[in-house]
Amino acid sequence: MCGIVGYIGSNPTLDFLIEGLKKLEYRGYDSSGIVVFMEKPYLKKCQGKILKLEKTLIEKELKLAQVGLGHTRWATHGAPNTVNSHPHVSNSGELYVVHNGIIENYESIKSVLIKKGYHFKSETDTEVLVNLIEEVKKTENVKLGKAVQIALNQVIGAFAVCFLDVNNPNEIVVAKLGSPLVIGIENNNFYIGSDPSPFIRYTNRCLYLGDNEMAILNKKEGLTLRSLQTDNILKPKLENLKLELEQVEKGGFKHFMLKEIFEQPKNIKDALRGRILTRPNRIKISSIEENITKMAKSNRLIFIACGSSWHASLLGEYYFEELARIPVEVEYASEFRYRNPIIKEGDIIVPLSQSGETADTLAAIKMAKEFNPFLFGICNVVGSSIARETDSGVYIHAGPEIGVASTKAFTCQAIILLMLSLDLGYRTGKLEGLKYNLIIDELVKIHQKVEQLFKESKKIEHIAKKYQNSRNFLYLGRGLNFPIALEGALKLKEISYIHAEGYPAAEMKHGPIALIDKDMPVVVIATEKGKYHKILSNVMEIKSRGGKVIAILSQGDEDIRRIADDFIEIPNADELVSPILANIPLQLLAYHIAELKGCEIDQPRNLAKSVTVE
Ligand code: AGP
Repeated sequence: MCGIVGYIGSNPTLDFLIEGLKKLEYRGYDSSGIVVFMEKPYLKKCQGKILKLEKTLIEKELKLAQVGLGHTRWATHGAPNTVNSHPHVSNSGELYVVHNGIIENYESIKSVLIKKGYHFKSETDTEVLVNLIEEVKKTENVKLGKAVQIALNQVIGAFAVCFLDVNNPNEIVVAKLGSPLVIGIENNNFYIGSDPSPFIRYTNRCLYLGDNEMAILNKKEGLTLRSLQTDNILKPKLENLKLELEQVEKGGFKHFMLKEIFEQPKNIKDALRGRILTRPNRIKISSIEENITKMAKSNRLIFIACGSSWHASLLGEYYFEELARIPVEVEYASEFRYRNPIIKEGDIIVPLSQSGETADTLAAIKMAKEFNPFLFGICNVVGSSIARETDSGVYIHAGPEIGVASTKAFTCQAIILLMLSLDLGYRTGKLEGLKYNLIIDELVKIHQKVEQLFKESKKIEHIAKKYQNSRNFLYLGRGLNFPIALEGALKLKEISYIHAEGYPAAEMKHGPIALIDKDMPVVVIATEKGKYHKILSNVMEIKSRGGKVIAILSQGDEDIRRIADDFIEIPNADELVSPILANIPLQLLAYHIAELKGCEIDQPRNLAKSVTVE
């Protein structure tokens, strides 16, 4: 995925473009570029991050330009070098484009254009797109807007695109299918972003472009919204954003990831706000209330997700089976979309995604729709594609998550899944009141327990120092702690580049035990009281083979604490809640190890925050 920005209006644009790109750098940071127009176009591109691009912007005229486009790239087609960076320009030098997405049929379009005499400098699909528009504009003798509408009906794939025609620098044309695009509006000043973070300091009034929509942004005539398919004029539905600037800034923390870890008590409260009533205890989630008949009758929930969202779904499997007694399957979206799955009447599909834009999850939803199931989405980003593609659902309200490694979103996903399963279990009579009340009491206190476990931060930093040079880690957990082991291992490998694997603790003896030696730290999540003695035996097995154990324990644990090499205590909590707490020290452990190793924590190599390509 990539990040795109654009501006047209009566103010200088350069600072907006650069600062906006920095806000979107989480979406990709292989290369970046801008084009601004001031009597002539100025195109600047370079491999690497925005800071590098910024240093090349030396001409004074750039500061005066009132129209421009910018791009930060996560490479799909072609190496991450300057030539492949956006903006791309058409052969005549008249049309500029920035693009987020993928044009799947670009090769066939390219060969037609080559036969017509077009040449290509880059290996990208985007350069093909801008030349296709040039060709349509010439042959049909139409303005940019009409050419965009005609050309985009010939492409297959996903796009959020912005075009600028140097013959008409009063206008930017934007369009969307699949990839996100939002326009901030303040009179006839138009701010474009892949998300609203670049422009919230200027305006909170915005238009989320829908799929198959295009907008012509003219600094004199204003905004015209059209359907890409029919070219009909549409009525724009403007929204008022609730986002605050501080939510997308680091607020004194060294990294967004650290800020997001420490923000979790607040995020948990936000996720629960208005949904849990106490005395008497009651959960009130409108999407469950509205769909209770369907939910109560459902045979099966099928979660589809990727990465950390897949791990949260696995936690959801335990919650829904335990509390609502509904069978659950958890599927990797990337696998599910290519299988020939059996989806029957009464199955509910539950896509789970932080960004709401993950390409595999979206494709799995589209495939599942052929079976006409009820789709209940769980997303963080409000108005995202997955939120729009599903029949109903719930937002996790974690706020913007900028660090590539998911932390607060995972926690809020887990909280929401626990709350949903409790609600459903209770409403359908599968869960008795005592347990229902007990977990609700726990949920309303959980943010305090997270605050409490932050007191272990210094100790976690110390453990990180001790193990920072290890080359492999194993993470073990049983039951509800197994998804936490997977998530802990993913966090470590994503940001520190240390190889780490998560396993169900009892699986260790079926293979991974062969790896254990003094150089292999094993993180054991040992908070599950019911199977405490089983996990204690696993710890003994590791110790007797010379392994090093870092144990995550509940307060008051005596036995494992005595034999572990290091331990981190979490506050006591019910077994359904303690995995959510146990995950947080693992986020901090990964963070501190990565920090000690000097890694780029918020933007780890090769990754992007949301993967909007296959
Ligand atoms: C999490 O730390 C990862 N960056 C990644 O696995 C992520 O969870 C995955 O790409 C799914 O993203 P989504 O939740 O936005 O769909």
